[in-house]
Amino acid sequence: MDSFLVSPKGPLKGSVRISGAKNAVLPVMAAAMLADGVSRIGNVPQLKDMRTMADVLRVTGCRIKENGTELRIDSSDINHLEAPYELVKTMRASFYVLGPLVAKFGKCRVSLPGGCAWGPRPVDLHLKGLEALGAKINITHGYVEALCEGRLKGNTFSFPISSVGATANILMAATLAEGTSVLQNSSIEPEITALAEYLTGMGANINGIGTRTLIVQGVEKLNPGNGNTIADRIEAGTFLAAAAITRGKVKTTDMDPEHQSALLEVFKSMGCEITIGSDWVELNAENKELLPAHITTLPYPGFPTDMQAQLMAVLATVKGVSSVRDTIYNDRFKHVSELERLGADISLKEDTAIINGGGELTGAQVMASDLRASAALVLAGLAAKGQTKISRIYHLDRGYENFEGKLTLLGANVERVR
Ligand code: UD1
Repeated sequence: MDSFLVSPKGPLKGSVRISGAKNAVLPVMAAAMLADGVSRIGNVPQLKDMRTMADVLRVTGCRIKENGTELRIDSSDINHLEAPYELVKTMRASFYVLGPLVAKFGKCRVSLPGGCAWGPRPVDLHLKGLEALGAKINITHGYVEALCEGRLKGNTFSFPISSVGATANILMAATLAEGTSVLQNSSIEPEITALAEYLTGMGANINGIGTRTLIVQGVEKLNPGNGNTIADRIEAGTFLAAAAITRGKVKTTDMDPEHQSALLEVFKSMGCEITIGSDWVELNAENKELLPAHITTLPYPGFPTDMQAQLMAVLATVKGVSSVRDTIYNDRFKHVSELERLGADISLKEDTAIINGGGELTGAQVMASDLRASAALVLAGLAAKGQTKISRIYHLDRGYENFEGKLTLLGANVERVR
């Protein structure tokens, strides 16, 4: 199992190109199953999660060709309507195949994703939404079996809470349903907007894209899709956090600054200098005494839960008391004990971490518990005195393309060891 050795090397400086967003590619890969023929997806990052999704699609009979950052998915011969436990258990997003398969073929069998590193993550909303569209759902032996006679039927469904995954699944299913579906309180994360636009390119009829009410006029058939993936806002945010924690100056390019608003407001309030261009953001924390911050994670456009661990690492280096409250996953705090091994002073009270920052961080051996927690530990290692060894880096490989290479270009000292 790979580990990272991270040593401090002072402020990071330079410019880093942001890759395509894994959370945008994953639902679009599932959407390709809705058509017959070859869909193309560009700006695809080379990540473990992409390979897992490709394996899930291959099991169903899709043929997949990878060429650099381009994926071609041929869905003409889907013949096995199942997503097996062995694959779904390793990546929750495999569950995205449920909506497209039942909408197109009237039946499928998809393993339940199960728990994850920070507690239970239910799929009840995915199932309720599909039931609202007329699917019969049965759960047996850890598998969801979905059935419908003929096409799904358009309906109004209101998500009781904002769910990115459930919105994506039901939206995909609704594109092939008979009649109109009105999806209220839909998520408006940029990845959902990107999915809706890709589906529109396939011939889906979707109104209200970018708003909380998506109105889908079902069509009988979709064409293969073709489009490029939006930039990864979490990867971009992580590099900006790397600039902040090393008191450096880093420009993230080929990304959408609009997707970063909540995060940039926090950095500004901490005293970081933020410069924004059409497709880039620069964070300058050189020679700055940063200020503490109080963060609450919320659905988009609020502060993303996927950035709270990285921000907590930064706040551990900032003198004063800060807090991080996670309202999306209120026990997503596995990184706290590992940051404490590096000397951070953090206490947990229910869904809130209180960070008494500014003490010295010192290198130690730590263990990555999930994707974003791994990134937070690497950032903390960049600011800690001495060497930090982070094991179980496979979590990080799920979501950061060439992380150590990009950090090295910015002047960091990060080495992968086997
Ligand atoms: C997606 C992202 C993940 C991010 C999360 C929240 C992908 C592949 N993953 O995950 O990186 O951390 O959004 O921004 O895009 N919930 C239910 N029932 C359900 C579904 C969700 O109660 O059926 C709850 C969850 O437990 C959570 C909240 O809804 O508290 C939001 O979760 P959701 O937006 O669905 O997260 P994911 O789509 O799984």
